[in-house]
Parts: sequence; C-alpha cells; structure tokens
Amino acid sequence: MPKKSKSRKRTVRIEVRKSGVHGHGVYAVQSIPKATRIIEYTGQRVSWEAAPNDENDPHTFNFGLDNGEVINPEIGGNDARWINHSCDPNCEAVEEDDRIFIDALRDIQAGEELFYDYALEIDEPITEESKKRFACYCHSPYCRGTMLDVS
Ligand SMILES: C[S@@+](CC[C@H](N)C(=O)[O-])C[C@H]1O[C@@H](n2cnc3c(N)ncnc32)[C@H](O)[C@@H]1O
Ligand SMILES: [Zn+2]
Repeated sequence: MPKKSKSRKRTVRIEVRKSGVHGHGVYAVQSIPKATRIIEYTGQRVSWEAAPNDENDPHTFNFGLDNGEVINPEIGGNDARWINHSCDPNCEAVEEDDRIFIDALRDIQAGEELFYDYALEIDEPITEESKKRFACYCHSPYCRGTMLDVS
C-alpha cells in the first residue's frame, strides 16, 4: 500500500526552455527557498575513457565525480542536464555518496533561470586560449570570462 507520510519529498517545479545564455536552460516555475534540493543530475556512470568527449568541443554534458567516474546524462539523464553555467550562480552542485544534486544557493524567484558554477577542469594547463575555448557568456558583472576553474 502506498505510504502517506509527512516526510514525503515535494518535487520542485522547473521547466526547460530556450536560454538567453546558451541553447536550452532550466527555469524555476515556482519560488524556490535557499538550500532547497532541486534536482539530481542523473545519467549513466562511466569511466572518463568511456565518456563521450571531444577535447576541442566546449559543449559537454559530462559531470565528473570525485571517484573518477563521469555521469553521462545522454543515457538515463533528466532535466538537470540543461542547467547552464554562471560565474554568479543561484544554485550549487553538491556531491554526496557519488551522486550529484543541484541545491539552491539563495532564494530563487519563479521565472529565474537556474545556474551553477561548472568550474570545469581540463587535462592541460589553463591558458588564455583554453579560457577562450571555454568562454562564458553568463553576462554577470562577476563573470570571469570562462567556465574553467581558474581558482
Ligand atoms: C550541460 S550543457 C547545458 C545545456 C546547454 N545550454 C544546451 O542547450 O545544450 C553544457 C554546455 O552548455 C554551454 N553553456 C552552458 N553555460 C554556458 C555559459 N555560461 N556560457 C557559454 N556556454 C555555456 C556549454 O557549451 C556547456 O558545455
Ligand atoms: Zn561567466
């Protein structure tokens, strides 16, 4: 019998539509309080070697885990795969038990696009050329100009 419980998690209402930053993006349909767990980044877990990857193409859906695996949302993925990067994000990607969750960093209003900081890592030194290859178009006043992790 289905269990009716007060602790049942509510689904946060979000939608995928065209973004002003890049391609498709994900938008809040409702207001989302700070620290809300919005969605899990799901997909097939594969090794880096098995993940679809073109080093010269900055467009990627791969999400690297601390254990060395990669989540490939092209198989078993959900709407989280469409969330774009911002250098001044309203969400953060949190890794827990080899799973990735997207949580609200602050209160988010209905209609806002959701973003987290990709902080991309590459297997080569970060140069002006690689920063440009992974250029960021988030339009934030704090934009660092690249989706790469330059910290
Ligand atoms: C997981 S996809 C996000 C969905 C993407 N907008 C689409 O329609 O396919 C990640 C890719 O979107 C692009 N992207 C996301 N945020 C960006 C940003 N702030 N500036 C430039 N490109 C971005 C990059 O090509 C990145 O590799
Ligand atoms: Zn930016």
